[in-house]
Amino acid sequence: MRKKPDSPVRKAIMERRSIRQFTDAAVDRDLIMSALEAASWAPSGLNNQPWRFAVIWEPTIKEALAGLTRYAATIKSAGVLVAFFLDKDVSYDHTKDCQAIGASIQNFLLALHAMDLGAVWLGEILKNKDRVLEILQLPARLELMAVVAAGQPAHRNQSSHRQPVEELILLEK
Ligand SMILES: Cc1cc2nc3c(=O)[nH]c(=O)nc-3n(C[C@H](O)[C@H](O)[C@H](O)COP(=O)(O)O)c2cc1C
Repeated sequence: MRKKPDSPVRKAIMERRSIRQFTDAAVDRDLIMSALEAASWAPSGLNNQPWRFAVIWEPTIKEALAGLTRYAATIKSAGVLVAFFLDKDVSYDHTKDCQAIGASIQNFLLALHAMDLGAVWLGEILKNKDRVLEILQLPARLELMAVVAAGQPAHRNQSSHRQPVEELILLEK
């Protein structure tokens, strides 16, 4: 296969890894807001922009959320948590809205990576999504899609793997 030009976007996609341990270094609020702006520029069906964000800095709230997942250590060490919600009031198609929020989360992760911050997409906590709403005192029209834990990476030696793309292509006619 011909080598693709290493565009900044492709470079970020390939380099980004899930980071699950963070240092105590403070996270700049402006950087998080900038990454959330990137998240909000994801595509969505009918451009309905179904994503909503809860940004959590307070240690007491982090502690409470940590009690809802086996990724407690990651949640506690994160400088900031961002919970991504689907707003059912603006939803028109649940599948398409979930896809849009997935795109929004990926934009967020890539934007953080491009600013040398680390993050991980946490889905396991969804088993307690109603408890998350209670702790954050948010209304039932919001459905939790993920919590992203972010901060200064404690290390950058995380590796990952993917199946070769040739094995994923079902057909090419
Ligand atoms: C829908 C979804 C749910 C995930 N849930 C968790 C999780 O609960 N805990 C965790 O540590 N990582 C979670 N991850 C991160 C994946 O484990 C990670 O993306 C995968 O292993 C590939 O590694 P990479 O992100 O470093 O490329 C989740 C990712 C996605 C997309």
